[in-house]
Amino acid sequence: MLDLTRVRQEYMRDGLDEKDVLADPLAQFARWFDDAQNAGLVMPNAMSLATVSALGKPSSRVVLLKGVDDGKNGGFVFYTDYDSRKGREVAGNHHASLLFAWLPLERQIRIDGTIAKVSAAESDAYFATRPLGSRHAAIASPQSEVIESRAALAQRFNDAARAAGENPARPAHWGGYRLAPVEIEFWQGRENRLHDRLVYRKTAQGWRLERLAP
Ligand SMILES: Cc1cc2nc3c(=O)[nH]c(=O)nc-3n(C[C@H](O)[C@H](O)[C@H](O)COP(=O)(O)O)c2cc1C
Repeated sequence: MLDLTRVRQEYMRDGLDEKDVLADPLAQFARWFDDAQNAGLVMPNAMSLATVSALGKPSSRVVLLKGVDDGKNGGFVFYTDYDSRKGREVAGNHHASLLFAWLPLERQIRIDGTIAKVSAAESDAYFATRPLGSRHAAIASPQSEVIESRAALAQRFNDAARAAGENPARPAHWGGYRLAPVEIEFWQGRENRLHDRLVYRKTAQGWRLERLAP
């Protein structure tokens, strides 16, 4: 049906050298994120989030990065429904993985770590910044559940909007997660498939930087 064996791309844009990266991978992430924004990439904060069920079955989906904080409890923050499939999987297995594919820059970032909920205060604060319709939708939509129809969803939305009004409280089933990284890999495409891969691994002494074979 689809033969893509001849679709090829040479990677020529850039290199990634040990001497050019920052000692802190979160700072290095921020630097690459700036590059992605400055290059005008569409939704550079869209990232793939992979989780694993209690039975070891993986699943992935796109979510939006809403912040990165450094320090001891730093990490990558996103918001979702705690009762969704991903929420249930995270509750049973807190190991997860994030992926940014910034293809026009021939770059990929892989982030592995463990996920925990952000504080209720943090979730409240972010919820309050969302457009009213998004807040009503968070109340109305039982994410990942089977629903009867589009019309039933619209009905739920209208009911939520009527009941919750102009200043809805954050529903308990909706909030943020923070993935605390233990490993972050920066990948830069290079000529002849000899790509650069620099990986930071968290150790008791701090971050250790290593190069991986492409
Ligand atoms: C560009 C894009 C951004 C998205 N951002 C989010 C997000 O920030 N939070 C979220 O819960 N779902 C987001 N989604 C929807 C998810 O991909 C997914 O459909 C939803 O979270 C349900 O996933 P689950 O059933 O595995 O829990 C986004 C989808 C796309 C394509």
